[in-house]
Amino acid sequence: MPLGNMSIMLSRAKDGGYAVGAFNILDYNSTKAVVLAAEQMNAPVIIQTSAKTVIYWGTSAIISWVQQLADTSSVPIALHLDHCKDLDLIKECIDAGWSSVMIDASSKPFDDNISLSRQVVKMARSKYVTVEAELGAIVGVEDDIHVRHQDAHLADPEQAIEFCKKVEPDCFAPAIGTAHGIYKGVPKIAYDLLEEIAAKVAPPIALHGGTGLADDVFKKCISLGCAKVNISTQLKYAFIDGFVNYHNANNTEYNPLKVIDAQFDELKVGIIENINLFGSAGKA
Ligand code: 13P
Repeated sequence: MPLGNMSIMLSRAKDGGYAVGAFNILDYNSTKAVVLAAEQMNAPVIIQTSAKTVIYWGTSAIISWVQQLADTSSVPIALHLDHCKDLDLIKECIDAGWSSVMIDASSKPFDDNISLSRQVVKMARSKYVTVEAELGAIVGVEDDIHVRHQDAHLADPEQAIEFCKKVEPDCFAPAIGTAHGIYKGVPKIAYDLLEEIAAKVAPPIALHGGTGLADDVFKKCISLGCAKVNISTQLKYAFIDGFVNYHNANNTEYNPLKVIDAQFDELKVGIIENINLFGSAGKA
């Protein structure tokens, strides 16, 4: 199958009351784990790449893994660039074949965020590429993007309406109290804010900071309008733990392919759990 259109996937999810998982991959093995988990669950899925991962491997390596896996896959797969501030990198991903990109100009003043996000929508739409844009500041660390607690702020509902009207993103990421990375306490999610924004803006909502949220938090956010759920840190842990745990249990064996298999299994189990939780199983 050619790469899927994220906007179509998310509109279906919004109408159907479920969310599509967006999983940040790290290499070929983790990309394969995402695709095979989605196939096993017959679920649409979003392969997400951080800007740092794109810079590390280069666009041609990543697009070749994804296209090779998508070509033989029976489920809709979108390839999405996560939080990116760099317009040149966004353009490079669009030219290389990403089907979706995120412009993160949320650290800029409101009007600049609008104009940069609009610029990306204009650039992407002519190539049938979808766009996610952010408002407010989501706390935590997502690869190269660090937002300190004192700098985090939730999205303002009136600004959210104006932002979505002027930018027309395919997916909207308002800061609602979730955080990137490992939660240090119980997160305070602004459910009322999420409900208000989801009811008043047209695009489906992306829930950032998925790792570590309780099952009922996911369910409530999805019921209030989140149609895309981002999971990154969980894959980073599974990637390393899968490797280390296998080696610790078999420390005289030096068979790299077995270690890679163990890592793959660890990643895939977690992705399947998420797909079940988000309600996207059987929705391909
Ligand atoms: P986590 O790393 O907390 O799962 O957040 C992922 C995310 O929102 C990526 O944009």
